[in-house]
Amino acid sequence: MDEPSFDWAKAHGYLGGLHAPLSDVLAGIEPPSGVQVQPTVGPQAAALLDVLIRAAEPPRILEIGTSCGYAACVMGMAAAAYGGTVVTMEIRGDLADAARRNVARLGLEATVSVLEGDARELVMTLTGSFGLILQDGHKELYEPLLDPLLERLDKGGLLVSDDVLFPVMKIPERVRGWAEAIERYNRRLRGHPLLRTTWLPIGDGVAVSVKHA
Ligand SMILES: C[S@@+](CC[C@H](N)C(=O)[O-])C[C@H]1O[C@@H](n2cnc3c(N)ncnc32)[C@H](O)[C@@H]1O
Repeated sequence: MDEPSFDWAKAHGYLGGLHAPLSDVLAGIEPPSGVQVQPTVGPQAAALLDVLIRAAEPPRILEIGTSCGYAACVMGMAAAAYGGTVVTMEIRGDLADAARRNVARLGLEATVSVLEGDARELVMTLTGSFGLILQDGHKELYEPLLDPLLERLDKGGLLVSDDVLFPVMKIPERVRGWAEAIERYNRRLRGHPLLRTTWLPIGDGVAVSVKHA
């Protein structure tokens, strides 16, 4: 029998259509006009985060790389349903302010805290642990921040890492170093003694790791 044929681009388009924005309000999350931002996690990874959070109900969630707060709001809406909280970190003041405005627009001020500053320093000041961590900050910081983040992840907690397909994507030459950094990071995830990881071809690639020890 012939192998079933599979058109990857068509599948991506089809799945993209199934992952409608989580709400009309969320679809309105935009950067301030004229401000350059990096892409959000996108609707497919947002839907994955929504499902993971509603299933695991982590009391505390951490995000590295807030931008305008798209993923923070997705996670905040899911966490608000059971009384969980989200801490998110952004190095750019204009984006941290935009994220706070989006959080307020959704009425999530009691659920989502936006910290402004360099995650390399902010992570070291965190007390307590988290049940889910989303890594979507600077790609060259994924690998150096891995162990500090794992120290703050509960046993059985989830580490979700965005953009893990950068090594095989066409990306601008000026950010070629990001692809190399993600390649190093993927190898660390694969060999890490505390983690079991699966890599999913959604959005720009999402790795989901569980801290099993
Ligand atoms: C891909 S964007 C995040 C998108 C966001 N997670 C979402 O889905 O809406 C990455 C963000 O990380 C921020 N960033 C870069 N280096 C950082 C650092 N050292 N500490 C904190 N944030 C950083 C960038 O300014 C950028 O806004």
